[in-house]
Amino acid sequence: MGWPFIGETLQLYSQDPNIFFTSKQKRYGEIFKTHVLGCPSVMLAGPEAARFVLVSHADLFRPTYPKSKERMIGPSALFFHQGDYHARLRKFVQASASPGALRRLIPGIEALAESALDSWAADSRVVNTFQGMKKLSFDVGILVIFGRLDSYYEEELKKNYSIVDKGYNSFPNNIPGTNYYKAVMARKRLSEILSEIITKREKRMETNDLLDHLINSKGDQGEILSDEQIADNIIGILFAAQDTTASALTWILKYLHDDSKLHDAIRAEHMAIYEANKERNRSLTWAQTRSMQLTYKVILENLRMASIISFTFREAVADVEYKGYLIPKGWKVMPLFRSIHHNPEFFTDPFKFDHSRFQVSPKPNTFMPFGSGVHSCPGNELAKLEMLILVWDQLNKKLNLTYHDLSLSGQVGSSGKPKWD
Ligand code: HEM
Repeated sequence: MGWPFIGETLQLYSQDPNIFFTSKQKRYGEIFKTHVLGCPSVMLAGPEAARFVLVSHADLFRPTYPKSKERMIGPSALFFHQGDYHARLRKFVQASASPGALRRLIPGIEALAESALDSWAADSRVVNTFQGMKKLSFDVGILVIFGRLDSYYEEELKKNYSIVDKGYNSFPNNIPGTNYYKAVMARKRLSEILSEIITKREKRMETNDLLDHLINSKGDQGEILSDEQIADNIIGILFAAQDTTASALTWILKYLHDDSKLHDAIRAEHMAIYEANKERNRSLTWAQTRSMQLTYKVILENLRMASIISFTFREAVADVEYKGYLIPKGWKVMPLFRSIHHNPEFFTDPFKFDHSRFQVSPKPNTFMPFGSGVHSCPGNELAKLEMLILVWDQLNKKLNLTYHDLSLSGQVGSSGKPKWD
């Protein structure tokens, strides 16, 4: 359980996560206890245990986040909830990222990816890949939620959201000038901006984006969502979508950079489509995105290798017995996606990037980059589409990637040379 109070929090966040989890698993097996972020916790490194918590016995485990973070995102955001309210909101997010909706979003996402690549190519300074991808994934989030948005509001949202983002992981306090305090103020401003956008939107015709769905949503008794509930969910979605997708985009560029043969094979897959589209003067279609089989396998292997969300948290709502172990009520429970994705029993030579392993489907519950069960990621197809479009645009623009040191958080350090040439 580590040191009093801090437990093993420092080790968890300072060590290579692969080493932290593997060494524990070697010593104690697939189920072991620890103490992190001030809470006694049970870590579960097996696929069946992950399924038990997230799917088959999900009612015994509720989602749990530190209160300060819940306040910062907004307590009405769907991922803090269970039951009817959660299901109602989830339906709208899923609809906004459904194949029908994504099909319509392709030209918009392509335009955003192209403009990002152009701006990096034109920049003579070092481009921090992760920060660049964060900007791109935020812009895509805005597109999905609002469709077209007045540039004044877009700038205001970006400015205030980036202050919230900076203070999100700071120590909670009420001292003016600190990052946390600034974040709380910016969060208030975000609510005001979103309220203005909602009021303006209510007077306009339907545009069929996520904001429309949220505004027009009615519960069983005909009740509508308040502005505050809508704002919390919009900020929640931007939050869930931004760093995750940006990390995945950063890692896929790194893996393509590392393997020039793979890079060329993907380029060959894309070339046929590119030529056909050039001839007919049309841009990438939904059917074409579905036909890129090699690129798709590379995206899956990228998600397995990077395991962006290494684990998630739930809290036991009652004493639960699992395979002879007691999980006491109130303890945190952590299914370890990363450990499952790097277990040689399920993925041979797990630390090697090998897209060909996805020629066959992984064993049940062994591949969960987007979680599983009622809280699994409703944005998973959107995230995969973003990766596919970025790789497509990057290859078509014939940009040659160079990168420096890529840390485990997915951030690219700056060590002098231009990142794109
Ligand atoms: C590569 C990118 C992404 C990864 C790896 C990822 C991963 C995940 C995972 C593992 C969960 C489940 C967390 C849990 O069970 O506690 C989740 C939930 C969620 N994700 Fe994603 N995500 C990504 C992109 C996105 C995008 C683009 C959106 C935008 C729509 C999004 C929206 C959400 C939401 C709203 C939830 C909460 C769902 C619920 O509680 O019902 N994610 N994501």
